[in-house]
Amino acid sequence: MLTEKMEKALNEQINEELYSSYLYLAMAAWFESENLPGCAAWMQAQAREENGHAMKFFKFINERRGRVTLKAIKEPAKEWKSPLAAFEASLKHEQHITGCIDKLMNLAIAEKDHASAGLLQWFVNEQVEEEANVDGIVQRFKMAEKAPGALLMMDHALGERK
Ligand code: FEO
Repeated sequence: MLTEKMEKALNEQINEELYSSYLYLAMAAWFESENLPGCAAWMQAQAREENGHAMKFFKFINERRGRVTLKAIKEPAKEWKSPLAAFEASLKHEQHITGCIDKLMNLAIAEKDHASAGLLQWFVNEQVEEEANVDGIVQRFKMAEKAPGALLMMDHALGERK
């Protein structure tokens, strides 16, 4: 069984993950409008992954005989001043999500909820990967800014993501 506090916090995380998905979908739409289909495809894949994260919490709450409650998802931004700015915003967002996961883990420990801590450990590891991936892309975009044609190469490379 989940404690009331844990159930509420996990439900809030579902909202954070769904917002993440919405944010990346908004970025995908913006990249499409900028004629960068590779970046758009990368963001669409990221949006799907975030939906999967939300569903992991959804499934877990149900398995623990809790109650899933869905709240309104806030509106994401519509445009960014450059591809670099979009990926920088994505990195900042992932750092925020890492903070949310850490807080959830602290709560699970305080509540002596080993099952939630087990699930959250997966997310702790996932966030290391997510931040490292986006940070790598930010660094490459910074290098690409100085080289003509590099943006199109970056777009092509990002479009390879499955
Ligand atoms: Fe679900 Fe990108 O964190």
